[in-house]
Amino acid sequence: MTAQQTELRNLPSDLKQEFLPKHVAVIMDGNGRWAKRQGLPRIMGHKRGVDALKDLLRCCKDWGIQALTAYAFSTENWGRPTEEVDFLMTLFQRVLRQELREMLEENVQIRFVGNLSVLPKALQEEISRSVEQTKDNFSIKFTIATNYGGRQEIIQACRSIAKKVQQGLLQPDEIDEATFEHHLYTTGICDPDLLIRTSGEMRVSNFLLWQIAYAEIYITETLWPDFNRDEFHRALCAYQQRERRFGKI
Ligand code: FPP
Repeated sequence: MTAQQTELRNLPSDLKQEFLPKHVAVIMDGNGRWAKRQGLPRIMGHKRGVDALKDLLRCCKDWGIQALTAYAFSTENWGRPTEEVDFLMTLFQRVLRQELREMLEENVQIRFVGNLSVLPKALQEEISRSVEQTKDNFSIKFTIATNYGGRQEIIQACRSIAKKVQQGLLQPDEIDEATFEHHLYTTGICDPDLLIRTSGEMRVSNFLLWQIAYAEIYITETLWPDFNRDEFHRALCAYQQRERRFGKI
């Protein structure tokens, strides 16, 4: 079965399949506030956040969206209390291990972007395993941004390009957008068409700075753990009402 032949399930009738975004990126914000409102410790918000992410992935797959990228941990998130950082690292590792079988059954390709080399070794191993085992899957590209920062990604791309110039493999005049994209973590994935941020904050927070140049941005007051299929449906309806001009008239 090819990606095109993958059956679409339960696409709401008011959404036009041909105008769905190919790639949705999401800043999953508001886990801590969600937990506080429930009188729970912050980490419970992250746990519930995993459920919301799994639902969104399933929904994207059901509705034929080709790529989903989620911001799980930014380069700035190391500044959180040690217990919260440790909890998140362990959570990522556990979820990856628990979900791998289903990801394989559901034909999901898992990818990671960010500086993974400083993550705990056990998590790095779990990441390598899940990326390797799902690399030939094609129903949806699911990218998890971990220890990710858009500026850092751009700097590391510049360094790789500069090294090639230094080695005489590339001429400065040959550097164009395609060259640059090729050196980003996200090479091989189309740019996001839609960027969703929950919890009402009007910021892009160093997420996919190059890649979101022409993304439509949708912000909802809903806190991430409460972001469900209905919310996603609303985001897609809003997206389909936008006129995308890419700088033209
Ligand atoms: C932001 O909310 C959320 C995070 C920094 C962590 C997001 C991680 C998950 C939802 C788990 C994903 C799991 C996998 C395996 C990818 P916040 O804590 O900043 O909320 P606040 O602004 O209300 O404090």
